[in-house]
Amino acid sequence: MTSLLRNFWYVATSAKNLKAGQLVAKKMLGEPIVIGRRTDGEVFALRDICPHRGIPLHHGWIEDRSVCCCYHGWKFDTDSGRCSEIPSLTPADNLDISRIRVFNYPCREIQGHIWVFIPLDTKREINETQLPPVPTIPDFGKTTPGVAETFHFACDVDQAVIGLMDPAHGPYVHTSWWWRSGPRQFRVKEKLYEPVPMGFRLAPYEMPVSAKPYKLLGNKVSIEIIFQLPSLRTEILRGDRYVACAFTAVTPIDENTSEVYQSLYWTVPGVGLLKPLLRILTRQFMGQDRDVVIKQQEGLSYSPSLMLIDDADTQAKWYFRLKQEYEKSVLENRSFQNPIEPRILRWRS
Ligand code: FES
Ligand SMILES: [Fe+2]
Repeated sequence: MTSLLRNFWYVATSAKNLKAGQLVAKKMLGEPIVIGRRTDGEVFALRDICPHRGIPLHHGWIEDRSVCCCYHGWKFDTDSGRCSEIPSLTPADNLDISRIRVFNYPCREIQGHIWVFIPLDTKREINETQLPPVPTIPDFGKTTPGVAETFHFACDVDQAVIGLMDPAHGPYVHTSWWWRSGPRQFRVKEKLYEPVPMGFRLAPYEMPVSAKPYKLLGNKVSIEIIFQLPSLRTEILRGDRYVACAFTAVTPIDENTSEVYQSLYWTVPGVGLLKPLLRILTRQFMGQDRDVVIKQQEGLSYSPSLMLIDDADTQAKWYFRLKQEYEKSVLENRSFQNPIEPRILRWRS
């Protein structure tokens, strides 16, 4: 069974999917969570179970700074999760309603994503000042993505992550005419990887700018691909004129299913007109990754033993080592020691 890493920020939804006054039900790492946006624009995340009689709070509505349960109208403050009103009480009742709480998850809106922090323990109060920073995409400040799409992957987070970082499936899975055409042509790739905090990266290098889309960014274009726990992949193309980025976040829904958030950012002017086309291409490309894991599930349902080979699957091996070390560091109550060493990886694709 897949282990799900806690004490991390996870993408809960694209910010564009959460309108003012809206409540959205999510399941993240097996937990029912309601995400909402107040009319003042602030976002919040609460455990999606009313502590009174258990109905999910997302069936209710937002009133000012509270969520109101649809069953008996109990209200919960969106900042603290504390109960602020029980309509059925009379002045003669002496129930201390502020002691009734729903767990409130730390929640932030950054660069067009709503992030929710999933702690180790939802029984304990969270000290907001001790939270790790929300992962941000360098080079883009407060920019929101030009394209942001969500995909449901019928597999655990591990298969989703290693499928997305896998350099050898391209010629077999991504066969759209606009991506590559004609017979498969393999070349030996040789690339330097090195550790970064909580992960590893393809060390930035300058690409040959023969392909037209890269030329949009300038005459010199470098690429950097960063992978970081729990399941974040950031691919940045830096040209001498403009920058573009593909950001992928995998959020486990539960042990068996995952949600994949794919966003594209760019600073190139005028590309806004191409948004509908880029959206279609993103759906097609990620749809290919999603469809291949559906086929894979047919085999995985028999729990076969699997293989990871060098060097094409070395990144997948690193992912599991990073996960293992993270879980060990939590268990031993010590800081995380990145187990990855700089190394050149070679494969044909
Ligand atoms: S179940 Fe929510 S108020 Fe009663
Ligand atoms: Fe892929």
